Parts: sequence; structure tokens; C-alpha cells
Amino acid sequence: MSNETRKPIISGNWKMNHNHFEAIQSVQKLAYLLTKDDFAAVDVTIHPPFTDLRSVQTLIDADELKFILGAQHCHESDSGAFTGEVSAAFLAKLNVNYVIVGHSERREIFGETSELVQSKIVAIQKNKMTPIICVGETLAEREAGKTYDKVLGQLRSALEKRSHEQIKSMVIAYEPIWAIGTGKTATADDAQRVISAIREEIAKISSATVASSVRLQYGGSVKASNISEIMSQPDIDGVLVGGASLDSAEFARICQYRLRP
Ligand code: PGA
Repeated sequence: MSNETRKPIISGNWKMNHNHFEAIQSVQKLAYLLTKDDFAAVDVTIHPPFTDLRSVQTLIDADELKFILGAQHCHESDSGAFTGEVSAAFLAKLNVNYVIVGHSERREIFGETSELVQSKIVAIQKNKMTPIICVGETLAEREAGKTYDKVLGQLRSALEKRSHEQIKSMVIAYEPIWAIGTGKTATADDAQRVISAIREEIAKISSATVASSVRLQYGGSVKASNISEIMSQPDIDGVLVGGASLDSAEFARICQYRLRP
């Protein structure tokens, strides 16, 4: 489905990298490399670790930067006896706008279930932020021909009990697990096939209108050298970038994909 009406969204997921000094340097360098036209053409969200959020927020405000602040994770309760956790409500107070949820590292390393992912989505939207919901299959699932079962199953669960309006404002990131941090990327055609199946499923769950406005990202070893091909696909509206977002020069080139063939 043509993406003319959906503004591209490029997200940098720093994972557990960059302390708050490095975060400030990185954002300043990126701000220097990107232009007004870049921000008019794409939404750029940055997802630093929790300890960097306040510093990055202050920098964005003070220098009136156009980056959109994001987080990588949150707890589903507003407050309480949850040692070490950070609530969606606290993130909203820091002007965080986007929160990644259901990332495969959270699901696989920290045992987050689909139910937990659901309740985090509820908390994120209750606090007027946008969830970036990650879905994706393992290599074994892919080889067993279970890609669509896994991805669409995770999608159905995440969207359960959400209204049309709530679904419309979400971002869904298709991240094949075997492509994350491995240097292997799904071919652009392959990613397009799965992502267009995600859009069709959203149309079934909600409506064709909602499906045509939801922004869908690809994630998994995105780099400056493969971004143009990925973004040329009709259903791919953006990318969720891990490793390559740590290098400001590389990430700037990714954000400026439209300037190159
Ligand atoms: P990667 O990570 O770009 O390093 O593969 C993507 C992600 O986990 O969001």
C-alpha cells in the first residue's frame, strides 16, 4: 500500500549503550548533521537508556531540537513497589513521546509475555505516548515456515482490546530476530511481504482506513548502505535502528536516505 500519506519514522534504539555524557555528544553531533528539511521529511525518534533521558530532554528543549524523545521500556503500573522499574507515567513527565514495547530482547532475555506487552501498551497509551510495538520471528520459526503465525499472532495479541483510534496511532516494528545485531538483513522484498501482511491483518482487526494510516517499521541490521532499498518498499514507513544508531554520522545518513538513490 502506497506510503505517500504516512510520514516516515526513523528510530534510534541505543539499547544499553552511551552514558549521559556520550548521549549529549551524540545528540549534538546528530543535530549538527541533520537539517530542517530532514526533520520536515522524517520523524526522528531517539531512545537512550533511562539514565540519559533527562539530559537529552533538557538538550532538546534548550536548543529547540526537532528530535522526538523515546524510551526503550517501561513498567505497566503508574507507581508502586517494583524495585528498579520505571513507569510510563514517569516517562511522560520527561516529554517522552514514543516507547518501544515487546522488543525481542525484552521478550527473550527478560521473559516478557504477550500479556505483559499488552498491559504496557495500555499504560503507554493511557499516558498519551505512542508505543512502538515490536514483533518478529526467530530463525528456527522462519525455517519451519512459521513466520506469519508468529508475527501475526504477536500483532493480534498486542492489538486486542484497543480501539480504532488507539490502533491508528501505534507504530509497529517488524524485527526478524535473526536479523537483529547480526549484520543479516531480511531482503527488502521479504520485509515488504511480512509488513504488508501486518497491514492486511490490521485491516481485518480494525479497518482499512486505520490500516492505511498505521506506520510500520522494519528493524534488523539497518545501515546507511541498505536503508534506501528498505525505504523504497510501499508498506515500509520507517526503520528501528540499533547498532547503526550509535554512530551519529551513520545514523544521520540513514535519516537522509531520501537524498541518495
Ligand atoms: P540492530 O538492532 O539494528 O542492531 O540489528 C535493531 C533493534 O534491535 O531494534
